[in-house]
Amino acid sequence: MSPSVVSENKSSVVGAAPQGASDQTSAARAVREMFTSIAPRYDLLNHVLSFNIDRLWWRRSARAFRHILVRSDARVLDLCCGTGDMTFALRRQAGKSSPRIVGADFSHAMLQRATAKSTGWNASAPDWIEADAMNLPFAGSRFDLVTSAFGFRNLADYDAGLREISRVLRPGGECGILDFGEPKGVLGSLYRIYFKQVLPRVGTLISGVRGPYAYLPASVERFPAPEEMIARMKGAGFAEATWTPYSFGIAGLYRGKKLR
Ligand SMILES: C[S@@+](CC[C@H](N)C(=O)[O-])C[C@H]1O[C@@H](n2cnc3c(N)ncnc32)[C@H](O)[C@@H]1O
Repeated sequence: MSPSVVSENKSSVVGAAPQGASDQTSAARAVREMFTSIAPRYDLLNHVLSFNIDRLWWRRSARAFRHILVRSDARVLDLCCGTGDMTFALRRQAGKSSPRIVGADFSHAMLQRATAKSTGWNASAPDWIEADAMNLPFAGSRFDLVTSAFGFRNLADYDAGLREISRVLRPGGECGILDFGEPKGVLGSLYRIYFKQVLPRVGTLISGVRGPYAYLPASVERFPAPEEMIARMKGAGFAEATWTPYSFGIAGLYRGKKLR
């Protein structure tokens, strides 16, 4: 699989489109296969390719929701949890409180690694569930917080994904979507060389799989810009939708509160 060609206006983008996918079902299948293929090296590659800054982004995102996480009666869902690093950041931020934290992903191989990393957390370990973010196995109005780190961008339909998040959030509940952005200016130009030329080569070398690390920059380029994403969040029923850039906009956190 090689990167998808970016030609459309970002406001007309429906969702992720790995090359070769002809509809949303085949796009979701391609995404799942891709992450399953890199699961054994996913953590290593994440830390190497981001120079460990990913840990700061997860921690900072979790801290933004501390007011919810310190409540022992809170219910928290981390979508597209992968090997669980964002989920564990939420767990750490909860400290001595014991909110119910669930990590969900549709790649079994990624969840196996998350489960293995739970050793030592005992009773306070997050629960892991194999589920599609587009069709969650939860009743409506169930969670106080729904997060997703570097996963939402891979959904086959962004608006439907936001509606599904809104459905499972209780009124007044919050969502946090951490994902890559496109920094501007000179730094942006340098970063683009790294992200488009260096990262795919190193990622391919270490993982032994060609597609995913070429798909990554293409999917970020295709992802709606912050203004567009905020408009989509508002359209899905989130008030106070905002975006906070992290590390000069290389990543950023979208936040929204479901209308009461
Ligand atoms: C880039 S990884 C991010 C993992 C983790 N959140 C992190 O920050 O490292 C994206 C994850 O999203 C998952 N994913 C993509 N689309 C999904 C969907 N529709 N439902 C559930 N999981 C999905 C993939 O399986 C993958 O594990």
